[in-house]
Amino acid sequence: MKKKIFSGVQPTGVITLGNYIGAFRQFVALQDDFDSIFCIVDQHAITMPQDSKELHANIRKLAATYLAAGIDPNKSTLFIQSEVPAHAQAGWMLQCVATIGELERMTQFKDKSSKEGVSVSAGLLTYPPLMAGDILLYNTNIVPVGDDQKQHIELTRDLAERFNKRYGKTFVMPEIQLPKNGARIKSLQDPTKKMSKSDDNTKATIRILDEPKQIEKKIKSAVTDSEGIVRFDVENKPGVSNLLIIESSLTNKSIDEVVAKYDGKGYGDFKAGVAAAVIEHLAPIQARYNELIDSPELDEILDAGRDKANAIASATVTRMEVAMGLGRQVKRKK
Ligand code: TYM
Repeated sequence: MKKKIFSGVQPTGVITLGNYIGAFRQFVALQDDFDSIFCIVDQHAITMPQDSKELHANIRKLAATYLAAGIDPNKSTLFIQSEVPAHAQAGWMLQCVATIGELERMTQFKDKSSKEGVSVSAGLLTYPPLMAGDILLYNTNIVPVGDDQKQHIELTRDLAERFNKRYGKTFVMPEIQLPKNGARIKSLQDPTKKMSKSDDNTKATIRILDEPKQIEKKIKSAVTDSEGIVRFDVENKPGVSNLLIIESSLTNKSIDEVVAKYDGKGYGDFKAGVAAAVIEHLAPIQARYNELIDSPELDEILDAGRDKANAIASATVTRMEVAMGLGRQVKRKK
């Protein structure tokens, strides 16, 4: 039997090159060999304030992005989290297994809740058990994600283990899978920080629907250093190294091969080369996205995905409820 993978992406804003390299590329590569389920995690998105019209639009845009990036509905299941009630049900049960202390230690919670002027919802704190539910509902073996999700996956494993110990073996233990290259793509303006959808500085992120001209401009103004030599050194040359990782990942060349390409060349040529690689890689994705965004095909895929996901997830929720003693005792057939 094929091993199972599950991953999710939040429908907040346009997908960045960081999301694409850290997550989508892995999904597309893995879907041939694994039983793959991918989710648009809209219930996670509402842990921060959202405009409802915009959220609806972003959900559809994200669905089109998954498919345009290469998710094949004949191989993978794609669905929207809020259309499968088992996620909220499992999230609640797992919240009752998690402790406040461990949730308060999550760095993403600490970062987001410490921003000035942000009203912090209770959901922001209890987000990780919902994410654990997403994963555990599908008997997931492997979770392909970027580096920033590591702590959430570790917590998922802790909660699964605690639940299994307390209530009897219910969950499969999931493993994280990071991309070999590009687990943390950095901001173009501050290469010590990750490239993030929510960055206010639009020059810091490349969005996968950016026009070629915008991509050229953003890469041209990417922060580098004053050495003028293209070489890979994450610690001392984070900006140049980030651009090298981007080109290497999108062209499937090793870092050494990309470095060799710019031997004796300055940062002007280097940046133009990286921009050309990004533009060339994104062009077919953007074309497919434009075909899909208003198509009825998109709804058919999401309907079918919802039904498939629902069947698996509701069976797990029933097992969880029985294990925890919720509802009436069911006499099991021998
Ligand atoms: P989200 O929506 O913030 O990001 C989606 C995916 O993109 C990866 N990523 C990056 N990878 C490399 N470099 C970057 N700069 C970069 N920025 C983002 C993320 O690691 C992620 O894989 N909590 C999750 C969504 C989620 C989920 C799940 C994931 C909910 N339930 C279950 C896996 C399994 C999140 O907020 O991802």
